[in-house]
Amino acid sequence: MTMRALHAGQGSLVLETADRRAPLWRHCGARVDPGALVPLAATRTAASFSLDRDCPLSTAPVPGEGWFGPPVMAARREGLALPLAWTGAQVHTTDDTIRIVLSDTQAGVELEQRFAIEAGAGWRIGATVTNTGTTPLSLDALASALLPLPAQAARVISWRGRHNAELVECEEALPQQIWQRETRRGISGHGGAPGVYVTDTAAGWDTGHTLALQLCWSGDTRIAIERDDEGYHLLWAGAKLQPGEATLAPGESWATPDALLAIGTHGRNSAMAAQHAMVRAMLRWPGGTMAPRKVHLNSWEACYFDHDAARIAALARAAADIGVERFVLDDGWFAGRHDDSAGLGDWTPDPVKYPHGLQPLAEAVGALGMEFGLWVEPEMVNPDSALYRAHPDWALHVDGYPMLTARGQLVLDMRREDVRDYLFAALDAVLRAAPIGYLKWDHNRDLVPAGGAAQVRGTYALLARLRAAHPAVEIESCAGGGGRSDAGMVPYVHRFWTSDTIDAVSRVAMQRGFLAFLPPELMGSHVGASPAHATGRSQSLAFRAAVASTGHFGVELDPAALAVEDHAALAQWIGFARSVRDRAHGGAVWLGEGPDGLVWQAQGRSEHDLLLWVIRATPPQDRRPRPLLLPFLAGEGARDVRLLGIAGGLAGRVPPVPGVWAGAEPARFTGDWLAHAGLPLPPLRAETVALFHLAGPGVPARLLPFPS
Ligand code: GLA
Repeated sequence: MTMRALHAGQGSLVLETADRRAPLWRHCGARVDPGALVPLAATRTAASFSLDRDCPLSTAPVPGEGWFGPPVMAARREGLALPLAWTGAQVHTTDDTIRIVLSDTQAGVELEQRFAIEAGAGWRIGATVTNTGTTPLSLDALASALLPLPAQAARVISWRGRHNAELVECEEALPQQIWQRETRRGISGHGGAPGVYVTDTAAGWDTGHTLALQLCWSGDTRIAIERDDEGYHLLWAGAKLQPGEATLAPGESWATPDALLAIGTHGRNSAMAAQHAMVRAMLRWPGGTMAPRKVHLNSWEACYFDHDAARIAALARAAADIGVERFVLDDGWFAGRHDDSAGLGDWTPDPVKYPHGLQPLAEAVGALGMEFGLWVEPEMVNPDSALYRAHPDWALHVDGYPMLTARGQLVLDMRREDVRDYLFAALDAVLRAAPIGYLKWDHNRDLVPAGGAAQVRGTYALLARLRAAHPAVEIESCAGGGGRSDAGMVPYVHRFWTSDTIDAVSRVAMQRGFLAFLPPELMGSHVGASPAHATGRSQSLAFRAAVASTGHFGVELDPAALAVEDHAALAQWIGFARSVRDRAHGGAVWLGEGPDGLVWQAQGRSEHDLLLWVIRATPPQDRRPRPLLLPFLAGEGARDVRLLGIAGGLAGRVPPVPGVWAGAEPARFTGDWLAHAGLPLPPLRAETVALFHLAGPGVPARLLPFPS
């Protein structure tokens, strides 16, 4: 009996190895030194109505060993379920990995499980099954991770959503039977990253025990929490397979997507920080490191499909005039694409709208000092397209069943090499024909029929090939807004479009949901028109811009259509976003809730140089605001706090700054004061954001510009 522990961040995984059995779970929770731990068997008394051979939870529980809980895998041979029982087990460890190889020679199954410390913050966990038998093996399910939840686990937090209403947070008590989040749309969907948070009863943003897990997967997933009759809860997470889709020939293997697991003992913020660190470690930036995130102008809501050459040129000039750094030409540029009924699949510029191709426009954009970006939706085809007419069999279909369109389009079968080759050649040609530095890669429908895991892997393969051929090109993942925002896409992309709802009030909760698993520099957040196209609600430009400034900032309107005052203000907000992005991106994020309906977030690469957004979306009920507690500053030194300004307000103007905040000098508070007594706040009206700069001693008091 040997104990194997992997410590990462604030947590530890401890396994007990045993002869010819999968290692037993001893701990998955807060960081502990296992010391000279007694074997699990010594602590387990016999229980009535139990098998004579004890079967405690292992990393790979299977029914053939007398396990009645959720199995790590389910497989069939010749139609019959295999009970599975491990006859061989090897455990290989390094300082930061544990690799377990299990075999059932009778069943002809080998299972490899991998646990690796990721970015020092959490663990990457995955598994591969191999058919060592002589007939095909049908794999029905294989967990990426199957874990015991820590004893204090009590609540489960997840997100659901739809197009235009992404990332709705759901908090529930842990189940008495089973809780499940299963997705079946072929993409990760508008509920956001396939992941879950599990907290103790008292956990808040900065206190309490939190476990966070997300799958690196962009297809169907199953995350389930089941109560065991030994009294604890088990978490099962993995890709959801269609029956028969993973049928392995002798010698063939199937690997799960990886799961990223984090344990935080300082509330949700600590587990979120670990998830951000692990995701950041997976990013592949052109040139190796993240460059300052360029401010976008995206043409979609400014002109939709109306790509009149003069209008697009004017939009680009208007963008450059206000300080935009990347001009993204959205849907509508390619052959036959006059509305959403035709053209997908034919990735050549429309000969009427762009008679000389995209080069003249891309060069004009470059001459204006901006990078040129382009929208594509490679995995799709309209029945009304040259591609479909030439290759109707390239669309996902099941013979004999109708092909169901959505937005008038079908999905290409990404499992086919010829389809991927065609798409690579088409996109490669587009990228070679004009100076294009950026692709917005969309996916505007759910999958019927499903293409399964191989469809997802086909897309990953195409993305990887394109990235290798054009390493300088950044890519944005979009699926009707935030339908494919997940860590599976992270190695290939550099931004996610959070939602087609750009209404800033709606965005507040969505963007906080996004941050649960993905860091702010990947979060596309734009200033849209007022009224917002998706909701019809109107908000001041300052409020829209302040909410957008927490993420990767952009503009999605025609600046020339703005009132003079708003036009000037937008230019100033772009300047502000550019000057604060080194704090907003790439660093720590703390989220919190204040009294009377306030929410706040602090972001910065150094704890001594933070921006604090205090957001009031709805009107206050109290006469005066209570101070805002910033628990993450407990025990920290003094902070010089400066109110940069208040964005928004009923009249759409920046309200006057009151009281202590009116002077140019910052107010000094101890960290403990801010944590326990709180930051005095100015009164805020609905749809305003108070933006503060918190500087530690010694940080030069460089004033950040604030739009007037
Ligand atoms: C999706 C995207 C939008 C836009 C349109 C274009 O809905 O989310 O941003 O690109 O497609 O058709």
